[in-house]
Amino acid sequence: MKFFIDTANLAQIQEAHDLGVLDGVTTNPSLMAKEGITGQDNVIKHYLAICDIVGDLPVSAEVIATTYDEIIAEGEALAKLHSSIVVKVPMIKDGVKAIKYFTQNGIKTNCTLVFSAGQALLAAKAGATYVSPFVGRLDDISTDGLQLIEDIRLIFDNYAYETQILAASVRTPMHIINCAKMGSDVITAPLSAITALLKHPLTDSGLATFLADHAKAAGK
Ligand code: G3P
Repeated sequence: MKFFIDTANLAQIQEAHDLGVLDGVTTNPSLMAKEGITGQDNVIKHYLAICDIVGDLPVSAEVIATTYDEIIAEGEALAKLHSSIVVKVPMIKDGVKAIKYFTQNGIKTNCTLVFSAGQALLAAKAGATYVSPFVGRLDDISTDGLQLIEDIRLIFDNYAYETQILAASVRTPMHIINCAKMGSDVITAPLSAITALLKHPLTDSGLATFLADHAKAAGK
């Protein structure tokens, strides 16, 4: 399973990349705003800074436009910025049409704001490179976000769709583990959820014992 980091924070992207397990980056307008990135020139500079850190790993850059012609124009401009850019398009009617266009023109896409299996099926039929079901936001409204990952996996496998399931709004280490169990191709999560996978109290106490025994045997 691929690990993407879901942030526009350059230091966290660098830290995840240095850890050696990073396969890509996803951003969205809220994450860009959180870093104080405003204005088209600054947004473009920021995408390029992210691409500089991660090299040829995919970087999802989301369009703001919501009408077909504008999504195409914005998406083509984003795709021209760097070969790593994946154009992130919302799951709306004009978005699906735009994904079809981008696919036919060799531009990679990530269909975002997906909350149902039917939406995922439409994105796959349009040829999306990735589809992003939002696990955490479904959990937030007392709906089983992980069940959606399982349902999409079944549907995509039934018809051998090549669209990759990119589980998004993944917030906890258990989300990551359960997405892996369900066969998600990719998860995107904050750095805190990824590094939380490192932690186990028996690792900490076991290491402390090993080091103490080593020191004792060495007469320290
Ligand atoms: O990738 C989508 C993600 O950024 C949404 O996460 O935690 O705002 O639901 P969250």
